[in-house]
Amino acid sequence: MANDNPMVYLNGRFLPLDQAQVSVLDRGFLFADGVYEVIPVYGGRMLRWSEHWRRLEASLAGIHMPPPLTMIEMESALQRLIQGVYDQYLYLQITRGNAGKRDHNIPKDYIPTVFAMCSPIGPLPRETGIKAVTLDDIRWKLCHIKSIALLGNILLRQQALDQGVNEAILVRDGFVTEGAASNVFALLDGVLVTPPKGPDLLPGITRDLILELAHKHDVPAKEAPLPLEALHQAQEIWLTSSTREIVPVLELDGRPVGSGRAGPSWRNMDELYQAFKARARSGQ
Ligand SMILES: Cc1ncc(COP(=O)(O)O)c(C=O)c1O
Repeated sequence: MANDNPMVYLNGRFLPLDQAQVSVLDRGFLFADGVYEVIPVYGGRMLRWSEHWRRLEASLAGIHMPPPLTMIEMESALQRLIQGVYDQYLYLQITRGNAGKRDHNIPKDYIPTVFAMCSPIGPLPRETGIKAVTLDDIRWKLCHIKSIALLGNILLRQQALDQGVNEAILVRDGFVTEGAASNVFALLDGVLVTPPKGPDLLPGITRDLILELAHKHDVPAKEAPLPLEALHQAQEIWLTSSTREIVPVLELDGRPVGSGRAGPSWRNMDELYQAFKARARSGQ
């Protein structure tokens, strides 16, 4: 099963985790000058690899960095890290590397740092759901970039934990953006609603997959601005991400959501999602 010292990828080399080192002058360390991806792996196969690659390219473009490897080079490096067939996820991080000194200016010449590792996916809070609070979205204005600068997200998550719940749902100017590490869906009068893509939120791969499944199976769904008052009236609320899939929120701001139990729409979508995963696992 899980190995405490797995092989990781660092700048073209495969080596044990405890031997992987980067410079203290790395711009990722000094400035959080980098981006990342998290890709779930089922049955030894990456789920939606091309979508993750496209988002990585978009994140890199957002920080003015050309991809240091081609999609095929990256894919073959990642494939070598996958261990066995249990559920796991690949973490991939690219920073602007060591520029020889600490200087805010983006260097003209630099050697990027490319790091990847694979970790097991733990048990998920599916049926049991989670509790959440709404918090003011204090983050920056480029949340569509999957930046490694996650201090805003970390502080918001901690604020939620300190209030005795599992996750923060973020609100900007009266509208829901996303969770501290997830996207948000609300069931409003039988229609699934998720906020539209834009600089306020990460374009989640799971979010897109859910919209795709909804479309294919005639589940009413739309991308539309989601006011905080509407969220408080929702019959169901879900949070979605690659490693946590679709998690029902059973309590929001101290009040039960709908019946206070995982709802029928969640159950239906979770079944569709699990069936999609099972097909991906067997290579279909
Ligand atoms: C801020 C944020 N939004 C949304 C998501 C969901 O994205 P994905 O479905 O691609 O995992 C994540 C995932 O970690 C996240 O950190």
